[in-house]
Amino acid sequence: MMGDFLELSDMDLKSSKEFLRRLVGGPGKARTDFALDCGSGIGRVSKNVLLPLFSNIELVDMMEPFLEEAQTYLEEEADRVESLHCYNLQDFSPAIGKYDVIWIQWVAGYLTDKDLLEFLIRCKFGLRDNGIIVLKDNVAREGCILDISDSSITRDLHILHSIIEKSGLRVLCEEKQEGFPEFCIPVWMIAMH
Ligand SMILES: C[S@@+](CC[C@H](N)C(=O)[O-])C[C@H]1O[C@@H](n2cnc3c(N)ncnc32)[C@H](O)[C@@H]1O
Repeated sequence: MMGDFLELSDMDLKSSKEFLRRLVGGPGKARTDFALDCGSGIGRVSKNVLLPLFSNIELVDMMEPFLEEAQTYLEEEADRVESLHCYNLQDFSPAIGKYDVIWIQWVAGYLTDKDLLEFLIRCKFGLRDNGIIVLKDNVAREGCILDISDSSITRDLHILHSIIEKSGLRVLCEEKQEGFPEFCIPVWMIAMH
C-alpha cells in the first residue's frame, strides 16, 4: 500500500516539475525567485518541486504540526523557507505582488466554491509580473462528488473553469496527470494568470 503511494507520489512530483519547468524561467515567463505552497502539508511539493526551482519559498497550511514537521523534512533546504504561515486558506491573504508561482495542490477540495473563488482572487493579487497560479487536484468526470469521510469535494473541469473565470484569472495551459492507474480519479494541473 505504502509502496503504491510512493510510486504515485513520485509520478505526481515528476509531472509537476516538468509542467512547471515549461512555464518558468524564460522571456515573458514567470521568474524563479519566490513561490508559495498552499495547503503544503509537511512540504512534499515544496521539497521536490518548488525548492529545486525557486530561490525562496513560503508554506501555508492550517495544521501547525505539519508546518513544524516541514522544518525537519525539508532538511538543509529549510533555510530558503522565508515563512511558514499557519492559516486556513479561507483566512489567508498572500502578500501583494510577491510571488512568481502560487501552487495549490490537493487542498482546493476542502474549500467551498465561494471560499475557493475568493482565495483565487487574493492569490491573483499576490502575483508578480508574469506570475502564475497552478491548481493541481482530483477532477471529477462529471459534476461534483462529496466525500463524507473528510468533507471534501471533487469538482469537474467545467466547474473549476467557471470558478477560475469568475476570479478574473485566465487558464494558460492545463494537463492531465499521466501514468496514474485507470481506477484512480483523474488529476489535472491547471496553470492560470
Ligand atoms: C492532501 S494534503 C496535500 C498536501 C500537499 N499539498 C501535497 O500535495 O502533498 C491536504 C493539506 O491541506 C491542508 N488543508 C486542508 N484544508 C485546509 C484549509 N482550509 N486551509 C489550509 N490548509 C488546509 C491539510 O492540513 C493538509 O496538509
